[in-house]
Amino acid sequence: MIDSLRKNCGLPDEELMNILESDLYDNALVYEADIVRRSVYGTDIYIRGLIEFTNYCKNNCYYCGIRRDNKNAERYRLDSDDIFKCCSEGYSLGYRTFVLQGGEDMYYNDKKICSIVYRIKSAYPDCAVTLSIGERSKESYKAFFNAGVSRYLLRHETADEKHYAKLHPNEMSLKNRKRCLWDLKEIGYQVGSGFMVGSPYQTVHNIISDMHFLKELDPDMIGIGTYITHKDTPFANKNNGSLLLTIRLIAMLRLMFPHALIPATTALGTIHPLGREMALKAGANVIMPNLSPFDIRRKYSLYDNKKFTGTESAQSKESLEKMAESLEYRIVVDVGDVKRL
Ligand code: 5AD
Repeated sequence: MIDSLRKNCGLPDEELMNILESDLYDNALVYEADIVRRSVYGTDIYIRGLIEFTNYCKNNCYYCGIRRDNKNAERYRLDSDDIFKCCSEGYSLGYRTFVLQGGEDMYYNDKKICSIVYRIKSAYPDCAVTLSIGERSKESYKAFFNAGVSRYLLRHETADEKHYAKLHPNEMSLKNRKRCLWDLKEIGYQVGSGFMVGSPYQTVHNIISDMHFLKELDPDMIGIGTYITHKDTPFANKNNGSLLLTIRLIAMLRLMFPHALIPATTALGTIHPLGREMALKAGANVIMPNLSPFDIRRKYSLYDNKKFTGTESAQSKESLEKMAESLEYRIVVDVGDVKRL
């Protein structure tokens, strides 16, 4: 079974189902995933400085704490100087990728985004800028690319139409989400996608659809994190997703996508104190510590208790290095591009 995942030819759905339905820490699966990870990326862990520059959002996703209708969210926006300061600090700390992430906030029109990116790329030509600002037109994506953005993160969230409609209001569509991902690929971005594990109403069949969709898209980055409830959303009474299922899925994704950049996400570090360590052992090879100004971090609250201190903080690079060493990996100062086979 592990062998056929590893050969990258996919698995019959029933076999995928067996792995997904167990509730184990699957030692053999994790072990194989680590071998594959080391065969492509050695012991390297890439770090990205995450700058959460706006928590305004025009969308109303039922699971997300910064949804438009959450009146308890304290909204903020960073300007070009604030963002640039984060990058300067990040550069001194050894970060060579800056991820600009935000809600879907049209205050940042193409011109504003391009000028922020251009400023960062001019000062730090040896760094990559990644954008994660949601759905925009192909023209906008082209403009960002021409300004110097080389990577884009946009999780598909779920590849099943019916499930998508349970997580999002009618004004959003899976079709447009996928259109964005294909546009980004066509333009030449390194593209990241992914989904939440254990989001409300998710079935094992939905996860299998996610795996099939990822196979079709063949992204460079795959981000998955455990779903964690936020108290000020319509899903306040729903359960969190499972840590162990998320870890098994990371291992499966590593076997299916040997070259992919897979982060050990903040959601995993939030659901369990050792969640990110477990993810790294199961094939994850990227960490994205928070590089936002300290005073606004708590406001980018996608889910309850989202971590932003300790090793989730970009400033704690030494602790991160220790964590990596304890697992026999190494944090590297590197732009950390995807290694396509
Ligand atoms: N729990 C876990 N992940 C979440 N995200 C948004 N809300 C939650 C939540 N409640 C994830 C989405 C989004 C990414 C930035 O954060 O998958 O794409």
